[in-house]
Amino acid sequence: MSGFCRKICCWAVSRLPAFIVGIGVAILAFFAINAAMKPVSKSSYCGANCHEMKPAYQAWELSAHGVNRHGVRIDCVDCHLPPKERYFANLFAKARAGAKDMYKHYFGGAYDGEKIRKRVRDRFSNDICLHCHEDLLVCPSSFAAQSAHSGLINRPDAPENRCVHCHEGVGHERKSKLFSE
Ligand code: HEC
Ligand code: HEC
Ligand code: HEC
Repeated sequence: MSGFCRKICCWAVSRLPAFIVGIGVAILAFFAINAAMKPVSKSSYCGANCHEMKPAYQAWELSAHGVNRHGVRIDCVDCHLPPKERYFANLFAKARAGAKDMYKHYFGGAYDGEKIRKRVRDRFSNDICLHCHEDLLVCPSSFAAQSAHSGLINRPDAPENRCVHCHEGVGHERKSKLFSE
């Protein structure tokens, strides 16, 4: 082995312990972040802690995604954040939304639910819905669904073909008497 190679080799070996410790710390940090995210990703945490979120939480509990015949509950984070499989996008979006909500809660003035609702609706991406409902174009459960969704195949980007254009209330059942005020 040439002198140079030996130097590189010695350098690498001498730093091996630090390298292993570094990897260990990274793995621990990964589990710590995931453990810390778990409680704050629950729907009860997202929806029931601040007065701004209460109407959305109650309307979610009444919606097809809060209750359905299969007993599956689709959580707030499943619709309002990028899918969990996109780990970093999900993590950053969560941190950003958390910080923004906190700021608005303390410094944002009165919460205008209807204004925010429209903003959320108008920015809602089909990708979020299709992440779970990708089969709907291939095997719709009814003729009504099949014909309503046929426009989606040809012009997926048209405003009238956005999922929430027709399914505005899927995440929050606001037509209930409870919300008629
Ligand atoms: C199936 C997808 C879906 C789920 C699950 C869902 N949302 Fe929504 N959310 C929407 C859509 C779509 C809108 C905009 C349209 C509307 O609200 O009618 C919205 C609007 C909102 C708004 C803005 C309007 C308002 O009421 O202030 C808030 C806040 C909100 N959601 C919070 C939540 C919380 C908290 C949960 C969980 C308890 C949740 N969402 C679960 C899809 C969803
Ligand atoms: C995390 C997965 C998930 C996401 C995200 C999701 N859904 Fe669903 N959705 C479900 C499940 C599970 C059901 C219940 C299945 C059933 O009742 O057959 C459901 C039910 C529905 C239904 C049937 C409701 C009824 O009245 O029977 C519609 C319509 C629907 N979703 C549309 C949407 C739209 C639009 C979005 C985006 C705003 C969306 N979903 C986001 C999983 C999801
Ligand atoms: C032009 C209006 C329209 C658009 C746009 C639309 N839907 Fe539908 N959808 C309907 C109608 C009408 C039905 C049948 C009646 C019902 O079940 O509410 C339906 C039914 C459904 C169902 C239940 C039946 C099934 O086949 O499983 C789901 C889930 C659904 N839509 C999801 C979506 C998603 C996701 C999008 C966006 C990619 C979307 N829809 C876009 C009108 C629409």
